[in-house]
Amino acid sequence: MQHLSKIIKTADSEHLSEYQTTNQFGQEYDLELLAAERNRVNSAAYSPKSFDCPICHNKNYIMKFEGGYNIVEACECMNQIMTNTNINRSGLLEVFKKYKFENWKDDKPFRKNMLTIAKKYVNEFDGNSWMFVGGSVGSGKTHINVATLQEIMMHGNQGIYKRWHEIVAELKQDINSNKSNQFIYELATCNLIYIDDFLKNYSKSDLGIAFRIIQGRHDRNLATLISSEFYLSEIDEMDSAIGSRIKEKSKEFTINIVRDEEKNFRLEGL
Ligand SMILES: Nc1ncnc2c1ncn2[C@@H]1O[C@H](COP(=O)(O)OP(=O)(O)OP(=O)(O)O)[C@@H](O)[C@H]1O
Ligand SMILES: [Mg+2]
Ligand SMILES: [Zn+2]
Repeated sequence: MQHLSKIIKTADSEHLSEYQTTNQFGQEYDLELLAAERNRVNSAAYSPKSFDCPICHNKNYIMKFEGGYNIVEACECMNQIMTNTNINRSGLLEVFKKYKFENWKDDKPFRKNMLTIAKKYVNEFDGNSWMFVGGSVGSGKTHINVATLQEIMMHGNQGIYKRWHEIVAELKQDINSNKSNQFIYELATCNLIYIDDFLKNYSKSDLGIAFRIIQGRHDRNLATLISSEFYLSEIDEMDSAIGSRIKEKSKEFTINIVRDEEKNFRLEGL
């Protein structure tokens, strides 16, 4: 094999790096030795924890050649691991794994419309805008919002999934306790939340809780996804302080699905 340090440097700067045999301090380096070191480090394998990474063999880093040195860099699987950790912490359920844009049937105009708006929300995600999906039972409100939430989380954002009745159940114990205040504060201040079945079976005291969360997120300009069996206009009639804030933040990302049994995906093909 030709000795690498004897390769004549070319004046063609585009290919200069291929022929360089000295680092930034002018020291000669041995490409073969460095390659052997990379090979040794990169081939070492650990047993997989959450999933098996074919790139780094579960070390979560890889050794690369750069500027005359072997350097260690985080493997791209770290992004995936972070996302998985985020998804595990998010409260998203196992069944939601199939709630993806790819699994969305857009065979009817209202379904096409839901997908278009949700994808637009994801593409234009700025951490501030809200999306509201209200109306018809079984029309895919949870599916489309979960898909949206997961899509945003895949890009490294953290998010939380909560059903309205879970929020209420947790607070009903003692609404004035420190624990309850802390919980409301978390719901009002986390970066991204999806509240499902908003105001389902609500009582008057629920409206007070809902207002504190909605106002907190509205004032802090924090991204919020909401779905409800109610139309936004109905929420507005129940409590205009809540409704008007959702309206103001959701704008073009507001979807009201007119109630119609024909739209119930669960009954399709029965
Ligand atoms: N367009 C669609 N493409 C594929 N699956 C769908 C679609 N719409 C709904 N589904 C499926 O139908 C079931 C019911 O949908 P989902 O739970 O999202 O409806 P929903 O509007 O939230 O219902 P509810 O009013 O009871 O909360 C889910 O399993 C969901 O994956
Ligand atoms: Mg639902
Ligand atoms: Zn890896």
